[in-house]
Amino acid sequence: MEKPIYATLTSIGAYVPSRIVTNEDLSKIVDTSDEWITKRTGIKERRFAEGNEATSDLATKAARLALKRANLEASEIDAVIVATISPDFFCMPSTACVVANNLGILDKPAFDIAAACSGFIYLLSLAKSFIESKTYKNILIIGAEKISSILDMQDRSTCVLFGDGAGAAVISATEDKNLSVLDVRCSSNGQYQEFLMTPGCGSRNPASVEILQERLQFIKMKGNETFKIAVKTLTKDVVEILAKNNLSKDDIDFFIPHQANLRIISAVGEALGFPNEKVALVVQKYGNTSAASIPMAINDLYENGKIQCGSRLLLDAFGGGLTWGSAILTFNGK
Ligand code: UT7
Repeated sequence: MEKPIYATLTSIGAYVPSRIVTNEDLSKIVDTSDEWITKRTGIKERRFAEGNEATSDLATKAARLALKRANLEASEIDAVIVATISPDFFCMPSTACVVANNLGILDKPAFDIAAACSGFIYLLSLAKSFIESKTYKNILIIGAEKISSILDMQDRSTCVLFGDGAGAAVISATEDKNLSVLDVRCSSNGQYQEFLMTPGCGSRNPASVEILQERLQFIKMKGNETFKIAVKTLTKDVVEILAKNNLSKDDIDFFIPHQANLRIISAVGEALGFPNEKVALVVQKYGNTSAASIPMAINDLYENGKIQCGSRLLLDAFGGGLTWGSAILTFNGK
């Protein structure tokens, strides 16, 4: 009988643009303050890409690092999938096609998915299915955002929250269940679609002078409503995935929630009983990087020596759609 094949995360990489934008910098553009941003969000600074840098440029740099750490040549990658809400181009080509070309990965499938801040969990779910169905052996998944390109720099309620960056991972086939992506759960509820959206320039409100004048091409968020659902949903999702897999919080080495707001992360971490030292925290230096947030946080833990091969990670994301999802996996990076 053929042995079962499992998906495993064999490497992580990330890239952040060099330009640091502090709360102080933003207080010169909109009516805000370092005190308000720090108190309400925990964010101290974020990165903004340069005008001539696109999402694919950030994604390519993160992907090169992930490939190197996986000890794989580009030619060994069977598919490239990117999660982003800030693609290089409005409709086509996909950012994944641009990244694959940059890396020299040709004649292989490359496509984008849109699941906002939950993008990396959705990517993991896809990669796990492709690997475990034996369709592909090595998949490059990337969460990448130049969110500054869709931020309204006149809207203080959103422009202080987000930042640019990219995180990439290689998901490969293994026969070792102990090193696998054990479980991934994805979900959505479109009833709350207006909580977090870019209303303009799609087929609902096609691009026009009026749409641009109303600034509808930019992110709009009902922050407080989103906050409340985020805390409840993120917590419930973790309780459910742990129970489904007969695990407890003590079986987890690191809890890696979506990095949107320190208050959300603390509320969820406390409700679940995770000690602070087991909860990933990068929101203070990167802000909310949407689909890049979770892989960037994993990379930060890896580069700081806090996780190694064999560490069991619990990922938990929430974002526009609304979408959410969680995953339990054993890190298999070297
Ligand atoms: O990544 C996807 C998921 N994203 C999230 O889950 C984000 C969820 N939401 C949040 O993180 C928080 O709701 C925010 C950080 C966005 C806002 O914090 P809040 O405690 O919910 O504040 P609020 O929206 O209720 O606003 C409180 C006040 C308002 O003034 P009034 O009406 O009380 O006079 C806002 O106008 O704060 C004001 N305000 C600001 N003041 C200074 C909003 N933005 C700013 C700002 N600087 N940047």
